[in-house]
Amino acid sequence: CSLLPYNTFGMDVKASRFVEYASVEELRGLWNAEREAVARALHIGGGSNLLFASDYEGLILHSAIKGYTVVKETEEEVEVRVGAGEVWDDFVAYTVANGWYGAENLSLIPGEVGASAVQNIGAYGVEAKDLIVSVDTFGLETGEERRFMREECRYAYRESVFKQELKGKYAVTFVTYRLKKHPVFHLEYGNIRAELEKQGCQVDLENVRRIIIAIRQAKLPDPKVLGNAGSFFMNPVVPKMQFEALLAQYPDMPHYPVDEAHVKIPAGWMIDRCGWKGKRVGHAGVHEKQALVLVNCGGATGKEVMHLAEEIVASVRERFGVTIRPEVNYIG
Ligand code: EPU
Repeated sequence: CSLLPYNTFGMDVKASRFVEYASVEELRGLWNAEREAVARALHIGGGSNLLFASDYEGLILHSAIKGYTVVKETEEEVEVRVGAGEVWDDFVAYTVANGWYGAENLSLIPGEVGASAVQNIGAYGVEAKDLIVSVDTFGLETGEERRFMREECRYAYRESVFKQELKGKYAVTFVTYRLKKHPVFHLEYGNIRAELEKQGCQVDLENVRRIIIAIRQAKLPDPKVLGNAGSFFMNPVVPKMQFEALLAQYPDMPHYPVDEAHVKIPAGWMIDRCGWKGKRVGHAGVHEKQALVLVNCGGATGKEVMHLAEEIVASVRERFGVTIRPEVNYIG
């Protein structure tokens, strides 16, 4: 089966088997029939954070569990349980249409609801963990259904227990999010407030969503036009001492405080300063408007992209003494 429709990098690779299930019962049926294969399967979402180096020998699973259910509602808040196979941005559009606050800054992030809980997706000062109440899962080795409360998911910047010690062990089936019914906006990141003011528009849910979509569309390539997986690298978190030494050398370096002792530096800025923006190596390239995004210029192989990524890591390390790590998952 071709994986072309299942990876936004546009890698033309194949999997020996691809199975999509639409309910927990269907997944259980598959598990009963072939436990070994399911326990070893690669579970994918929207394929917007994957880079295939070669064809995939084995089973790939994909959730098509759909639906929204309001499980709790008060004057202040609402809790919605959402199927892992729903498209993330459809969920954001649904919250905005209902007048519920909290998810709007995460507009237009590619991918599906299940991955939001694994990856702790984030943008413009908000992360999925800020909304998540609990994550329902199916144990791919054990067949148990288990609910993880938010604290058990051990969320951090682009991190969770599902990417660490429990990697590959649980398939997310549903995620429950909590939204606010009264306005709470996060407009401090970057130029959101400035853009709203520039366009003279009122601060409301629809307008914040519209501005975020416009900012993303201006900077990030549309995978339908140019294959990519969003940010290719994570922003590195460095000790304050090292940050201060770098700042003395590069006074215009953007940065975000993490805690007392650590600072986050945008990898895109460092890659840009190393002169990579818009560069091409073979069929792989660095996006011309955002250096954090690697692109498939057409016909690139996963290995070509990985090779370009290695060169970038080496040049950032040489110039800044900082090691950046891919956010994208390498497969194969
Ligand atoms: N910058 C440059 N040159 C570049 C890119 C960035 O100088 O080529 C500078 C910008 O001017 C800015 C700073 O670096 O001062 C940060 O840039 P930006 O606001 O575009 O965000 P980012 O740190 O590069 C992160 C997320 C994005 C998310 C944005 C907005 C990660 C790995 N990436 O990028 O997430 O949309 O912030 O919140 O944390 C994704 O994960 O796929 C993704 C797109």
